[in-house]
Amino acid sequence: MVYLLFKYASISVAVLVGLYAGLLGLLTTSFFQAHVVYLHKIQMTWFKDLDVPEIFGFLHGQTTPFSIKSSTGGMLYAWHILPIELYRQHESALVAEPSGFALDITSRFAFKLLRDDPDARLIIHMHGAGGTVGSGYRVPNYRAVSAGQPKTIHVLTFDYRGFGRSLGTPSERGLCLDAIAVVDWATEVAGIPSSQILIFSQSIGTAVSLAVSEYFALQSPPKVFAGTILVAPFVDVATLVTTYRVAGSIPLLSPLARFPLLFNYLSTFIRDKWLSKDRIAQYIRANEANGEKYQLTLIHAEDDYDIPSHHTEVVFWHAINATLPRGITYDELEEVKYKSKRDLGAAGSVMEWRTKNGVIREEILKTGLHDVVMGYPVITMAVMRIFQAVDPSFN
Ligand SMILES: *[C@@H]1O[C@H](CO)[C@@H](O)[C@H](O)[C@H]1NC(C)=O
Repeated sequence: MVYLLFKYASISVAVLVGLYAGLLGLLTTSFFQAHVVYLHKIQMTWFKDLDVPEIFGFLHGQTTPFSIKSSTGGMLYAWHILPIELYRQHESALVAEPSGFALDITSRFAFKLLRDDPDARLIIHMHGAGGTVGSGYRVPNYRAVSAGQPKTIHVLTFDYRGFGRSLGTPSERGLCLDAIAVVDWATEVAGIPSSQILIFSQSIGTAVSLAVSEYFALQSPPKVFAGTILVAPFVDVATLVTTYRVAGSIPLLSPLARFPLLFNYLSTFIRDKWLSKDRIAQYIRANEANGEKYQLTLIHAEDDYDIPSHHTEVVFWHAINATLPRGITYDELEEVKYKSKRDLGAAGSVMEWRTKNGVIREEILKTGLHDVVMGYPVITMAVMRIFQAVDPSFN
């Protein structure tokens, strides 16, 4: 009896180990990696027509669906969202407009409200893995980013290749090219100066926004935006897989972290590495060398079970380290933080680091999970703080 139990138990353990090894084998293929990292086929808005933004809670004509051409030729599906007070002022004209997908967005009144207002500010939104422009907490997030100045803060959000209606297959290079195309559309077609553009990003979107911020900072002449907000960023993909939990609870690969040799071997198969820790450092070094003003805000909730907030602390450290000619160790920075971070009680804590050119802020919230935080007032505050620092008359 005991023997039989033991036998069955060991058979099931063997089966489980076999399945797990099979899973790991699959994960070394780039096809499966793309699906696991980007979750782009998990749309979450399956039965909703993105061309009818009203179903997602927008007013008639408030959101214009359209597409932007990527440099590799693909069409990227995008939404331009008007802030509420601006909408109110032009309500009758907007109600009289056609709604739905715009083949030529430049003919739409809503677009002209963006292009023809020299005071317009634009949030370029880079969303996280899975879903579309309309899913999850993204819609409340669009409201939160423009809530501080609902007359001037527009939102531009898009689906990367392979997500929603944007065709193609996601890859690190592909997503970066897509985001660059969207920035180019904003500055060239909509004519918004980069100092009036803020990049907002969450989760995997933070890796895209850092890549794009670095790319433009390294151009000559450099192009630097009003600022970049990173919600729930991560160090890099290799570090992420050791800590990521599917649906916040199933540790997929973290058991492997106990076997460093095996883990390092498997890490060599990671196709898209998304080295955010290095990109943030490069971005800061470029701006410090060029004397360009820059503002970075990192926000992470302690109860984020998808990406632990420790990732933000490490990314923040790499950022601070890049501002100092001789660098700083993680522990030294911890000591500085211990003395100078502001404790906001149940709201969490804030650490701000200023250089002659830049402001780097780390906000660790007590609550907010991985994505609910995107609709919180801290997001509104972060946006306003950045736009006001660039232009004190903006209020
Ligand atoms: C920190 O900065 C120093 C000086 O620039 C550099 O040599 C070092 O590699 C950096 N540390 C990390 C972990 O990037």
